[in-house]
Amino acid sequence: MYTHAMKDRTRIWDGDCSSITSVLLVFFVCLENIHCGNVKPQTEIYLPDYTIYHNLQQIGQRLNEIVSRNPTYMRIDKEFKSRQGRSQYIIRLTNFSDSRTFTGSNRLSHQKPKILLSFGEHAREFFPVESMLYLLQNITGGLTAAKGSLEESFSRTVLSKLDLFIVAMVNPDGRHYVQETGNYCWRGTSTGVDLNRNFDWHFGGKGSSGNSKDEEYRGVHAFSEPECAVLTELTSTYSFDAFVSFHSGIRQIYVPFADSVSKKEKKRPVNHKKQLELAKKMAKATSYRYTHGIAYELNDYEADGTIFDYMAGVRQIPFSFAIELWGDGDHNGAKCFDLFNPRNADLQKTLKEVQPIYEVLFKYIIEWKEEQLKGYFSSMDEPPGGLTFLYVLLGVVVIATVIVGINHRLPPYLRFYHRRRVVSLRSLSSTFSVMKVT
Ligand SMILES: *[C@@H]1O[C@H](CO)[C@@H](O)[C@H](O)[C@H]1NC(C)=O
Ligand SMILES: *[C@@H]1O[C@H](CO)[C@@H](O)[C@H](O)[C@H]1NC(C)=O
Ligand SMILES: [Zn+2]
Repeated sequence: MYTHAMKDRTRIWDGDCSSITSVLLVFFVCLENIHCGNVKPQTEIYLPDYTIYHNLQQIGQRLNEIVSRNPTYMRIDKEFKSRQGRSQYIIRLTNFSDSRTFTGSNRLSHQKPKILLSFGEHAREFFPVESMLYLLQNITGGLTAAKGSLEESFSRTVLSKLDLFIVAMVNPDGRHYVQETGNYCWRGTSTGVDLNRNFDWHFGGKGSSGNSKDEEYRGVHAFSEPECAVLTELTSTYSFDAFVSFHSGIRQIYVPFADSVSKKEKKRPVNHKKQLELAKKMAKATSYRYTHGIAYELNDYEADGTIFDYMAGVRQIPFSFAIELWGDGDHNGAKCFDLFNPRNADLQKTLKEVQPIYEVLFKYIIEWKEEQLKGYFSSMDEPPGGLTFLYVLLGVVVIATVIVGINHRLPPYLRFYHRRRVVSLRSLSSTFSVMKVT
């Protein structure tokens, strides 16, 4: 997303370095490349084979295909569009016939946790979009797997316990541009804006660029790009429990915040411990080493106006991450496709390898929501003293019942009280009846 070798070059031509050598370096590098930043095509090591990778048109077809095969569990909304009128494809995945609630292990019914996943923000990062298609195929594929198999139970769990929203292609114009021009270094929208610097969270700080030729160009004002609306409207309509913005270029998992102001103030989300706990679980989900942490601590640079910071800071979504799914962040020479996307021959294998990250995320959020709810109900219904009080009360009742039961079977000298008292009660009642009669 924003940390890779290209990033280091951008740092230089952002003009951050004040020394004369840096200025000279910028001058010569820029001369060589004619202009700087986002926009210069490079000679690539390898290119996408569109019988393996999906191009824009194939992505649309594939989504339609998967959704039309699973009408009970999927809806597609094509109404949100880019500046040039291309659909961004919202997919909603849940078991619609079980009324969007589920009964947790605590037997309490509640709204299913809602998770929003965002793909395709950066044009040149094909891999996350492929991963999204793999995920959809994985979830729906399990429906026809053998009953009781892992595949089947994964699908059933996801569909019955979650309400998943996926924005499949946030920046279709950028992808179109990459395909048309063969410029695999293009990151922005049709106007060259980096959507991940265009959101209204410390917009315009030094962790973005005001230069329209820079790959981190923030745009003229926050939300200048119509592509933002799908994410802002979904999050104003629904209350999400988790949000993830998917990228590639390195293997890293970021917890908010990434912006320069938060870095200066050492600001963290209130529940950062929980968020870091989940980040750590996801980082360990695969056989690869993912680094994870608060974004401004993990990186030595800031990023202002990012989507996941906005979701955490403005929308207050309890879990908000940016996940870089693939790449080693290292890169020799000036080309791009290989920095963000695996070789054609490795694509399927790599997609399978990253899949457990989703499984860990889903499982954690389901369990977290159940815990939340348990806390909520017990704080509402419990008498003072909480559940312990109820258990003690129950214990006393059980012991008393046992004592009374035993008492009736014991020989008289072992009883806790004498039958005489009972007899006297009886005689008392007979006295009453006598009185009544007379
Ligand atoms: C979806 O919900 C219906 C109604 O509760 C249930 O019969 C069906 O088995 C569920 N499907 C899955 C895949 O869990
Ligand atoms: C889903 O992905 C997991 C992990 O890659 C794999 O083991 C499983 O077979 C997949 N399920 C389906 C139905 O494709
Ligand atoms: Zn990215």
